[in-house]
This record gives sequence, structure tokens and C-alpha cells, in this order.
Amino acid sequence: LVAGVDSSTQSCKVVVRDAESGALVREGRASHPDGTEVDPAAWEAALREAIDSAGGLGDVAAVAVGGQQHGMVCLDDAGQVVRPALLWNDTRSAGAATDLIAELGDGDDGAGRRAWADAVGLVPVASFTVTKLRWLAQHEPDNAARTAAVALPHDWLTWKLAGSPGLDALVTDRGDASGTGYWSPFTGDYRTDLLERALGHAPVLPRVLGPAERAGQVAAGALAADGGALLGPGSGDNAAAALGINAEPGDVVLSIGTSGVVSTVSTTPSADPSGTVAGFADATGNFLPLVVTLNAARVLDATARLLGVDHDELSRLALTAPAGSGGLVMVPYLEGERTPDRPHATGALHGLTLATSDPAHLARAAVEGLLCGLADGLEAIAALGNPVRRVLLVGGGARSEAVRRLAPAVLGVPVLVPPPGEYVADGAARQAAWTLAGGDTPPVWPTTSTETYEADAVPHVRERYAEVRDMTAARV
Ligand code: XUL
Repeated sequence: LVAGVDSSTQSCKVVVRDAESGALVREGRASHPDGTEVDPAAWEAALREAIDSAGGLGDVAAVAVGGQQHGMVCLDDAGQVVRPALLWNDTRSAGAATDLIAELGDGDDGAGRRAWADAVGLVPVASFTVTKLRWLAQHEPDNAARTAAVALPHDWLTWKLAGSPGLDALVTDRGDASGTGYWSPFTGDYRTDLLERALGHAPVLPRVLGPAERAGQVAAGALAADGGALLGPGSGDNAAAALGINAEPGDVVLSIGTSGVVSTVSTTPSADPSGTVAGFADATGNFLPLVVTLNAARVLDATARLLGVDHDELSRLALTAPAGSGGLVMVPYLEGERTPDRPHATGALHGLTLATSDPAHLARAAVEGLLCGLADGLEAIAALGNPVRRVLLVGGGARSEAVRRLAPAVLGVPVLVPPPGEYVADGAARQAAWTLAGGDTPPVWPTTSTETYEADAVPHVRERYAEVRDMTAARV
């Protein structure tokens, strides 16, 4: 048996699967506080509880951890956490991002963006670890000075599972390292010069393991009663999900959860100086160009709340309104936005008339607005030369029938909806099985059936959305 962990923004899930067939044997979960700044001890407690509720690791041969990307976990000389972790969804380092971009271009923002994209495959935004470290150096210099090592959520949990064996035993993988802003997907090395520029000194960094390289063993009593299971390198949640869903080049995974994520597997690294596409690495030795929006499932939640209806009714209402919602557009930047990079933006509703002021039009505008933001991401990924054969739609938002039915029309490609699943934890479990078996490719586990929705393009929806998005941008 193998186990996979998904330590996400809100909770921790553990799946135990058969290493050869991939069959699900048992699972467990626990929630922990969410927010944008969280004490890593909360993730540790939730992992312990989730392992327990999944029946422990006594009969498990290998474990790997998938975790939310980018979170800044600062450790002191003794391996203690210096301050609560700042997470991917914390926007306080937006100013630090702007400064870092300008510095690398000697004040020229365009040159700075190009320099960052060429160095590390991404342009700093508030989400990435490098900008959080600059914020720390600026606002909490004592904490910055005490920082002897910097880890990411999944690295830290892997290290905890190993019994916290000393800072030089910290490990990570290519996928999560590529979201820091100080690791190059082009060379496979850390850019310690950029880290030092951000933080003021170069702390210990986790060693970057290959896709199925062993990361040690679970220590008895550390987080699980029984020790001895092999540890896989683990990865960031998006790379783990791509492995869990078995995405191949040409497949675009579109996940509608707390964040909206559009990604694809690519055989070459990418550098997008506009910053729209982050040039991450994946968990198999390939690359994972990816676009994140901050406003995804919460757009449906907020609109349902506003209308006083549940999600089924929201979906039903949306499907009764005409395509394009009679010109009513929702630009859903409910808590700033990351793509496009507008951390302080607010949402906008445009085109209210007597004919469009009803629940159905509003519901439709919400679903279309959410999908248009993701369609922009898909287009940016395609513009980098990535083939787009089909979209695999996952995440809580995929449960909405309106989202499933309108997605092919707005995105312009066939949309496949795999059954709801724990794709991050499954990907981590598959990596654990790979670590156990060795070899160049992950074990083949049967893929699950999908429901397909065909494209029926309605381009005016996106044109009208772009008009309103750009019109409202002037005011934020
Ligand atoms: C990716 C990102 C999010 C988090 C969510 O860049 O910020 O998808 O990984 O867990």
C-alpha cells in the first residue's frame, strides 16, 4: 500500500491506495484553520489527525506529500518556525513584488519582467515565496535575520514526517521549488543570488530531489504511530494534481477551487515576461505552465449568497438566461486578482438594464465572468505554443451544471469532467508508488471515466467581458 497527502489551504486529506492497481483502500481527513497567515503547527496537527482517520501508516510502504504551493515557512537554527507562514493567497507583499521587478531591470519595469522570466520562469507577484521574503526583510528584520532555512508547506511536512532531522535534511522537488522565484526551471539550480537579494542573506534551502527520488523514511512516533514507510519527494498541489489526473501534453487541467488554476504539461520550460503564465516544473521531469486566478469557486459562493439561493438553484437560474446574459457582465475580482496582476482590484457588474436585473441574468453573468477569467488563462497558455486538445475540468466548481455546460462554449474546446476526486492526494500516492517501484515513469493506474461536453463557441461573451474588464481596470 502507498499513501498520498494533500495539505491544502483549508484541510488535510490522506488517501491509501494499492501500489500496483491504484485501487482506493481507505482515506481520512481533518480540517485546520485557513486564512492567509497560518501557523504550520496547524498543518502538522491536521496531518496527524488525517493519518489517524485513514487508519494509520502501519501497513503503508511509501508516503508522499502534496501541499499548497509558495507558502513561506521560515525556520531558525534549531529548526523552530520563526513566524506563522505567509501563504500563496496573502497579498501583503505586492509592493515587494513591484520593487523586485524594478530592481532587476535597473528601474525599467519591462526589462525587469523579462530578466525575472528568463532567470526563474516567472515574474514576481505577491503569491510567490521570493516576494514574501522581501516583505519579511522590510517589515520584520529580526525575523528575517533569525531565518536560517526557508521551506515550503510540503517540504516542511515531509521533514516533520521524517522526524525533523536537522536543517540540512530538508528536501523538496522540482515542482514546488519552481514556485519559489529562486529556482531556475532552465538549469535546475537555485538562484541564491535572487534569494539573497530578497532576504538579505542566503539561508539553507531544501535539496531538490528528482521525480521519484527517495526522501528518507517516516520516523516512528513523529506524526504517525508507525515509522518505516519510504518518503517520496512530494510536490506542490498543482503538480501533484497533474500526476493524479494523469494529464498529458495537449490536456489542459482547469481547476475551480479556492483558486482557479489553468495548467498544462509541457516538455519545455516557459518564460512569459507578461507574468500571466508561471513557468513551473511538474512532478515527472516535465514542466507545468500555469495561470492562477484568485476568484474561482468563491464567485459562485458569493453570487449564491447574494441571491439567497443554493448552488443547484444558482446553476438552474444561470442556464435559463440567454448566452451573454443580455450584456450583463460580472468582472469577479472579489478580493483583488492575481491574473491579471491587480492585487487591489474590486469586482464590477456592468450592463444592468430593466431586462437584465433579475436573478437569472446575474447568475449567468457570474458563471460567464468566472469562465472568461479562466479562458484568458487558457489563451495565454496556448499563446506560448502549448497545444490545447481538451480541457479536464476539476475542483468544487465543476459540480455546478451551469459551469460544466457553459465551459465549452466560453473556452472554445471540448471539456471533459472526470468524477470528483482527491486528485492532489492521488497524485502524491502515485508518486509514492513510483518512489517504491523506481524506474523512469510513474506506474500506470487505470484512468477514470469522464463526461464530455462539446464546444459551441459564443465569442461575443468573451469580447464583451474583455471590454468591461479593461474599462474597469482604469479605476483600480
Ligand atoms: C499556484 C497557487 C495555488 C496554490 C493553492 O501558483 O498559488 O494554486 O498552490 O494551493
